[in-house]
Amino acid sequence: MSRKYHAKLVNAKKMVSDAHAGKYAIGHFNINNLEWTKALLEAAQESKTPIIIATSEGAIKYMGGLKVIVGMVNGLLEDLNITVPVALHLDHGQSLDMAKKCIEAGYSSVMFDGSHLDYKVNLESVNELMKFANDHEVSVEAEIGSIGGEEDGVIGSGELGDPKQAAEMSKTGISMLAAGIGNIHGKYPEWWESLSFDTLKELQAACNMPMVLHGGSGIPQDQIKKAISLGISKINVNTELQLSFRDATRKYIEEKKDLDDVAKGFDPRKLLAPGAKAIKDTFVELTKLFGCYGKAN
Ligand code: 13P
Repeated sequence: MSRKYHAKLVNAKKMVSDAHAGKYAIGHFNINNLEWTKALLEAAQESKTPIIIATSEGAIKYMGGLKVIVGMVNGLLEDLNITVPVALHLDHGQSLDMAKKCIEAGYSSVMFDGSHLDYKVNLESVNELMKFANDHEVSVEAEIGSIGGEEDGVIGSGELGDPKQAAEMSKTGISMLAAGIGNIHGKYPEWWESLSFDTLKELQAACNMPMVLHGGSGIPQDQIKKAISLGISKINVNTELQLSFRDATRKYIEEKKDLDDVAKGFDPRKLLAPGAKAIKDTFVELTKLFGCYGKAN
């Protein structure tokens, strides 16, 4: 059965290869609910910026399932008249089965995270997935080494990528490659100093393709810029949006606006509005840093 994703979605292949050639990075933003998704799509449209909207397996469970997400994203693309390139991407897919289910449900891009597997099995799995993904015109991200920290129950000890593996992975037909380069999911701990730029240089020389920086929240700006100059073409952000949302919501509650019954401050549409606005502001700030701001023009 061949079911292609909705006509308004695009896969991420052109986005990341243009970014690689133009030395900027596309923002990948994880979503959690309607407010998150709508805020990001509005911000992308207002700024004419291409965007990758991503869901982890945990977020898929949280929101109810694949039909909810695909329906919500496609509905917003139509109802909000979104014309900038948007990819709907599975983040850290833990099995081929999950990646295929997302493709069948209407995702335009998937990550197969085989970093927990023996490398040979990881490579074989990516090769198998490529046939299925190509039939559906879906872009694929693979991972070598591993990302440190924990994301939605997926724990990585942070192993640096191996250039030989990067070269092999680049031949599978994937559109982008994630690799451990000293990056960590979540807040960077006090002891963390830097990305491993030597590793990134070696990996880029070996694969010469768009690479993905996971754990994009909280990395100093000069390191982000250097990583982009060395071949990072997609940057994944989750925690930074959550912190922006938290701070804005906290302010609303600390100002006791939720307790103003006359102004109906308890209305969820009011209660969640500052958080949604904060997500839009963070999107603008980060996409300017990544260099993809306005690139859909
Ligand atoms: P952060 O939560 O550290 O931004 O990482 C996001 C990520 O890498 C998603 O894959």
